[in-house]
Amino acid sequence: MATLRDQRRSVVLVPYPYQGHITPMLQLGQILHSGGFSVIVAHTKFNSPNPLNHPEFFFLPLKDNLSGFDTSFGNTLAVIRAINENCRAPLQGSLAQMMKDQEKHGQVCCIIHDAIMHFGRSVANHLNISSLVLGTCSALYMQVYPSILQLQSEHYFPLQDSKMLEPVPGLGTLRFKDFAIPANIEIPQPLLKFYEDTSNLGSSVGIILNTTEELDPMSLSQLKQYYKVPLFTIGPFHKMAPTSSSSSFLKEDRSCMAWLDKQAPQSVLYLSLGSLASIEAKELEETAWGLANSGQPFLWVVRPSSVNGSEWIEQLPKGFKDAVGERGHIVQWAPQKEVLAHSAVGGFFSHCGWNSILESLCEAVPMICRPCFADQLANARYLTHVWKVGLELEVVEDRGVIERAIRRLMVENEGKEMRQRAADMKQKLDISTNKGGSSHKSLSDLIDFINSFAR
Ligand code: UDX
Repeated sequence: MATLRDQRRSVVLVPYPYQGHITPMLQLGQILHSGGFSVIVAHTKFNSPNPLNHPEFFFLPLKDNLSGFDTSFGNTLAVIRAINENCRAPLQGSLAQMMKDQEKHGQVCCIIHDAIMHFGRSVANHLNISSLVLGTCSALYMQVYPSILQLQSEHYFPLQDSKMLEPVPGLGTLRFKDFAIPANIEIPQPLLKFYEDTSNLGSSVGIILNTTEELDPMSLSQLKQYYKVPLFTIGPFHKMAPTSSSSSFLKEDRSCMAWLDKQAPQSVLYLSLGSLASIEAKELEETAWGLANSGQPFLWVVRPSSVNGSEWIEQLPKGFKDAVGERGHIVQWAPQKEVLAHSAVGGFFSHCGWNSILESLCEAVPMICRPCFADQLANARYLTHVWKVGLELEVVEDRGVIERAIRRLMVENEGKEMRQRAADMKQKLDISTNKGGSSHKSLSDLIDFINSFAR
């Protein structure tokens, strides 16, 4: 484990302890470490990162009082509230101590916290240091909570069914449906509070986003106008990070890499719904037959317990394994970035989490969009209607629809055109992350900005 004497200036990172958030925060840590900073990762004991994967960081575990707490998906807002309440004092106490002992710990320049972990900001205020917010979602989605709050104040909610397909004022191609808020309900108070807490920057002095100028200039310029603080777009982080160490909570099954080596170029459909989404057994069954009937090779990630009512894949339909034989490979967790970079992979059936999208675009892999919740619907809308590198799966429990979508993406001209557009996007992303590119420049601005806090 690193000691903070190695480098004089330290940044404190406060990640939200779920895969899709902790991964980009640790990648940001690697980027800043290679930019000359010591990195302190202040993390909950719940879902804590593995320090052995990051010997270059100093890890600061925070007492979160979550043991025995209901941390199931349905209780997410309560977990968020509990972490923000319980971790504030431990972080403040530990940092105050470290700041007294600068000789040993270096100078703590700032706190960078996940937008959801706003207790990081109040600790920074208390200790009289600067704080920046990391948004782990797209620039477009960063505008969604302020927009919902504005519309709430104008009495737009509850939304009627007839409104769901209408465009949201000011948000381009997004429809009300893409907010992922059901029709005919008032937005619950705890959810409104979450939107307020997460989108209110308070005294933060800047925003860091895992995106790049080239991906969505319109949303970025709207965000700049709205928040009026410097915005640093230094992504995709996994391309900017100097090394690619794993931050996976689940063990990667690498057997799929040898299987991929045996497949023809761009022939394999890779399927994964990320780290949180779960599906009904019926969808598992229909997806299985869609895959079998499509005739395409596939690599399918099914996380343990991600099919409701099952441990893993015991509810796969009878006859499915015989029907696909060696043409299909199923794992519990894959080395996703490597999979997407493999020349055999030609398409990604995805829940459209922001990390997955960036990882796919960086390898020019077009997508079938099966969004589940939160930002995934808005992300899918962008993939299908703005960047046009993905096609929307209209119905999820219908083998015929799934088979058709797979053929459209993997063998028909429509898919070829999407693959070409994805290749064009990859080229732009490569340029932005190379020396002289926009993300590269933004990173150097960020490093100067943080250095300016040093006293
Ligand atoms: C969550 C939200 O669902 C997502 O919408 C939001 O943008 C970020 O937080 P998650 O659902 O896990 O994240 O999706 P995603 O953002 O795609 O992150 C998943 C990460 O897990 C990716 O970095 C991906 O490479 C990794 N992964 C996934 C693996 O390493 N192996 C797998 O088998 C599946």
